[in-house]
Amino acid sequence: MSSSSKIGVFDSGVGGLSILEKIHRLLPRESLLYVADSAFAPYGPKGDEFIIQRSRHMMEFFLSQQVKAVVVACNTATAAAVALMREEYGFPIIGMEPALKPAASVTTTGVIGVLATEGTLASDKFVDLKSRFEGDIEIITMPCPGLVEHIEQIVPDAAAINQLLQKYMSPLLEKNVDTIVLGCTHYSFLTKQIKEIAGKDIAIVDTDDAVARRLHSVLEEADLLKQENDSNEIAFYSSGDPGEQKKVISRCWGKQIEVLFF
Ligand code: DGL
Repeated sequence: MSSSSKIGVFDSGVGGLSILEKIHRLLPRESLLYVADSAFAPYGPKGDEFIIQRSRHMMEFFLSQQVKAVVVACNTATAAAVALMREEYGFPIIGMEPALKPAASVTTTGVIGVLATEGTLASDKFVDLKSRFEGDIEIITMPCPGLVEHIEQIVPDAAAINQLLQKYMSPLLEKNVDTIVLGCTHYSFLTKQIKEIAGKDIAIVDTDDAVARRLHSVLEEADLLKQENDSNEIAFYSSGDPGEQKKVISRCWGKQIEVLFF
């Protein structure tokens, strides 16, 4: 592993592309390897054992590619597997954490909402995080089954997504939340719809930029930031059907890309 090595980024599907975009913007010289575990999405309802096994599979791939760092661009996989992966693998691993800390610092009503997968919300990691802020603020959590499956479609059904968002956000709005945390990287692709339902007075927060900044400082501290000004590359892999995934990933990435089978 050296400063010219690639950075691995993975998620259960396209959600982590929202993080990949921030990484690419902050660190444009870096070469990136993105893996969407599309054949096994969603992770939300699958349980720790399964997610650990899939995460290990991806880590082995990144190891074979001699990456210099990995970003687990998935809150559910971070909650289930990141601690173990850090024990098992030698490269720096950066994970996600629902943005309770930033939300706690911006709320004025003292009531915040969290949209995330059932796996993330049930995890010890999240329960521990929540307990650190509860008391000072009220935290209303809402699992959102079904949303990820819609986002993973070639052409997402906007009406069905809107219906699900209304259903999941109503209990939060009834409790007068003034801040909503997007605790799943897939939901960043729904920010516009979520803002429309929430209205202009509710802040929507995520940790996408913070993760890219964290990666930057981890690489800087380890003296692993790429120095060369040569061309970078972004390679996309998926465990799903490459033809179908090419369409889904191209839509979310905003330009036509090739997808290799993982
Ligand atoms: N994008 C992921 C997350 O941040 C996983 C969603 C899923 O596969 O259920 O949690």
